[in-house]
Amino acid sequence: MKILVTGGAGYIGTHTCVELLNAGYEVVVVDNLYNSSELALKRVEEIAGRTLTFYKADITNKDEMRMIFEKEKIDAVIHFAGLKAVGESVAKPLEYYSVNIAGTLILLEEMKRAGVKNIIFSSSATVYGSAPEMPITEKCPKGTCTNPYGWTKWMIEQILMDVHTADPSWNIMLLRYFNPIGAHSSGLIGEDPKGIPNNLLPYVAQVAVGKLKEVGVFGNDYPTPDGTGVRDYIHVVDLANGHVKALEKIKEGAGLKIYNLGTGKGYSVLDVIHAFEKACGHEIPYAIKPRRAGDIAMCYADSSLAKEEMGWQAQYDIDDMCESSWKWQTMNPDGYEEK
Ligand code: NAD
Ligand code: UD1
Repeated sequence: MKILVTGGAGYIGTHTCVELLNAGYEVVVVDNLYNSSELALKRVEEIAGRTLTFYKADITNKDEMRMIFEKEKIDAVIHFAGLKAVGESVAKPLEYYSVNIAGTLILLEEMKRAGVKNIIFSSSATVYGSAPEMPITEKCPKGTCTNPYGWTKWMIEQILMDVHTADPSWNIMLLRYFNPIGAHSSGLIGEDPKGIPNNLLPYVAQVAVGKLKEVGVFGNDYPTPDGTGVRDYIHVVDLANGHVKALEKIKEGAGLKIYNLGTGKGYSVLDVIHAFEKACGHEIPYAIKPRRAGDIAMCYADSSLAKEEMGWQAQYDIDDMCESSWKWQTMNPDGYEEK
C-alpha cells in the first residue's frame, strides 16, 4: 500500500514515516520544508533501512498536488502539513486559515479527483476547548477554541465530516493528539522548533542543554495537585504507531472515526521538569511566572476507544519521553543544522 504523507518531514511526520516503513508501507512525502529539513527524511531512511519518495511541494499548489496524485498511485493520505504555532496564529490568522484550510481543501479536491478516499487527519485536543470534565472522551462536545490555529483544526474536522456525509464510502480518521513529546530512540530524529520554543518540552530541553537560562513556569495557582498546569504528554513514537493502527482500521473500511491519542495520565509542569532532571542528570533552573493567556488548568485523555477499536495503546512513560528527548537534544544541539 502506498501512503502519501503531507508534512512528512516535520516532527510527527518523520516519526510516522519510520513506523510506516517498518510496517512495510511505501511512503511518498509532500512537504514544502517551511518548518523542516530534507536531512530529517534522510535520517528516516537511515533508521528504517528503506527509501521513501520525496516531493518538495506545497499543499496549497493545486498543480503540484495534481501532478503527484497523477504520478503516484496513492492508496491513503496521512495529512500532517500545516502551520501549528498558536501565538503566531493569533497574529497571522489569514496565513493560518489559508495554509491549513485552503491547503486541506485542495488536498481533498485532488484526492477526490484521483479517486483516493482514505485519509487520516492530525487533529488536536485543542478542539475540546475547556472541557467540563476529565478525562476527556470523544463524546465530549467540541468546545470554543481560543486561537485561529485551534479553529482550523475544528473547521477541518467539520469539513471532513461533511465530506463523509456526502459520500460515506470515504474512510476518514480524525486523530486528536494530546501533547506529543520525546524523540526516536536512535536520537537521529526529534522536534526541531524554529527560534525560542513555545511548548514546554523543547523549552525544558534547551534549558537542560544550556541554550536557555531557565524555564518559566506559567502559573502555580491552578486547581491542580501542585498548582501548575497538567497535560497528557504522549511519546511521539506511540503517536506514530497510532497512525499505523489507523491505517489498519481503514483497510477494514472504517468509515468516519474519531479517536483521542493520549496516555490517560496527567503530568504537571513541575513533574515534567523533574522527570527531565532525572534524564539529563542535573538540576533544571525554573521560575514561577504569571499564567499564559488562553491556557487551561488540566487536560488529559480517555483513550480507551482507540484501544477497543484499533488495538492501540501508549507504551512509553514520561521517563522514556524525557530520556529520548534528551538524547536527541544532546546529539543534535542545533537540530537539523542545514534548516
Ligand atoms: P511540524 O511543523 O513539525 O510539521 C508540519 C510539516 O508541514 C512541516 O514539515 C512543514 O514544513 C510542512 N508544511 C507546512 N506548510 C506546508 C505546506 N503549505 N505544504 C506542504 N508542507 C507544509 O509539526 P508537527 O508537530 O509534526 O505537527 C504535525 C501536525 O500535527 C500538524 O497538523 C499539527 O497541527 C498537528 N498537531 C501537532 C501537535 C504537536 O504538539 N506537535 C499537537 C496536535 C496536533
Ligand atoms: C499547546 C497549544 C495547543 C496545541 C499544543 C500542541 C496553547 C495555549 N495551546 O498546548 O493548542 O495543540 O500546544 O502541542 O499554546 N508551560 C510552561 N512554560 C513554558 C511552556 C509551557 O509552564 O515555557 C506550561 C503551559 O502553561 C502548560 C504546559 O506547560 O500548562 C504545556 O504547555 P505547551 O507545551 O505549550 O502545550 P499546551 O499549552 O498544552
